[in-house]
Amino acid sequence: MRKKLIAGNWKMYKNIASAEKFAEEFKKIYTKRNGVELAFCAPFLQLQVAKAGFAGTGIAVGAQNCHFEDEGAFTGEISVPMLAEVGVEYCIVGHSERRQYFAETDETVNKKLKKLLPAGILPILCVGEVLEQREAGVQEEVVKNQVVADFAGISAEDAKKVVIAYEPVWAIGTGKTATAAQAQEMCAFIRGVLAELYGKDTAEEVLIQYGGSVKPENASEILNMPDIDGALVGGASLVPEKFIKIAEF
Ligand code: PGA
Repeated sequence: MRKKLIAGNWKMYKNIASAEKFAEEFKKIYTKRNGVELAFCAPFLQLQVAKAGFAGTGIAVGAQNCHFEDEGAFTGEISVPMLAEVGVEYCIVGHSERRQYFAETDETVNKKLKKLLPAGILPILCVGEVLEQREAGVQEEVVKNQVVADFAGISAEDAKKVVIAYEPVWAIGTGKTATAAQAQEMCAFIRGVLAELYGKDTAEEVLIQYGGSVKPENASEILNMPDIDGALVGGASLVPEKFIKIAEF
């Protein structure tokens, strides 16, 4: 049985004070549920307060991006060893906002996965099609190409550690959610692609999340689907009560 991982993506929200306050409030109302793991992916400057704030709760902390070199003349970037020093457990890679606004490609995503995995930081790899691609009916081809390119040269043993977040770009921050059936269909399709690459046993172990306008009202339907092993939650992860309702799906 795969566990469920529900991860919040704070994006470029929360300063140090509000991140601290969030952790304080969250701890007061959160009761751990078996088989459900939680994580919050904070902006770089808020990682340390998030680590301190959630210490001892079993709640993990993640970054939202990293560079693929250990160090160097890359002004404005943060490396995997720097993240490891802070003790983050996860790192989002290839979010559609990075692919769209910061020239992230499958090639850089692949390099980042290859840095994170040996460092023991679990990647949350985002894949997903844009609206025009879904309307043209090529969403499976698009997502398959992303998965194949992103996993190039990664061993089966390492592949099991990657969390895949299927995030249809048209559903992110728009209030438009994929139906639970659409989300399940694509997550099952992704598992099929992994089975082609690594065999069925490995594919069965990989966590595949859905992301895109997940909220308390739709969490239960989505999270009870057989191939959906959690959610990557943007907007609804900024408010403790909302996120807890999702975690209690
Ligand atoms: P959203 O964002 O929940 O606000 O749609 C999801 C994401 O971008 O990871």
